[in-house]
Amino acid sequence: MNNQRSFVMLKPGVLQRRAVGDILTRFERKGLRLIAMKMLEIPPAMACAHYAEHAGKDFFEHLVSYITSGPVVAMVFEGDCAVSLIRKICGPTRVEDAPPGTVRGDYTMHTPLNVIHASDLPENAEREIRLFFKPEEIFPWTDGNAAWY
Ligand code: PPS
Repeated sequence: MNNQRSFVMLKPGVLQRRAVGDILTRFERKGLRLIAMKMLEIPPAMACAHYAEHAGKDFFEHLVSYITSGPVVAMVFEGDCAVSLIRKICGPTRVEDAPPGTVRGDYTMHTPLNVIHASDLPENAEREIRLFFKPEEIFPWTDGNAAWY
C-alpha cells in the first residue's frame, strides 16, 4: 500500500456546466476517500502561487484569468497511489490526447478550458493542499469498506 493525498480542483467551467456531481462521483466510485472540500473564489495572488512553476509561459496569464473567473471547488482525496490514479481518471492535459471516459476526454474541447486540475507529484500535492486548506479543514476518516476496494 502506498497511501497518498492528492489535491483536485474543479475549475469555473465545471460549475457552469453543472458537472460537479458527475466528476466527484467518478473519484468516489473508484474508492478514493474525500477528506476535504470547499468552494472558493481564488484571489489572483493565490492563483499565481498555485501555478508558480508555469510563470513566464505564454499561457500563464490565461491560466490565471480562467481560474479566477468564478468559483472553484477544491478537494483533497486520499487513497492507495492517489496521485497517479487521479491523474489517470482526469486524462491527459492536451484535449487531443484525452480519451473518452476520462474527465478531460468527456468535458474539454479546448486545452485552455481544461476543466480540472490534479496534482502531478506527491510533493506538489502536499504544497497545493497546504496552499488551499488549513490542517483543521482536513478530515481523514477510517474506511470501513477498505476490504471491498
Ligand atoms: S507544460 O507546458 O507541460 O508545463 O504544461 P502542462 O503541465 O501541460 O499544463 C499546465 C497547466 O496549464 C494549462 N494549460 C493551458 N492553459 C491555457 N492555455 C493553454 N494554451 C494551456 N496549455 C496548458 C493546463 O490546462 C494545465 O492546467 P492544470 O490546472 O495544471 O491542469
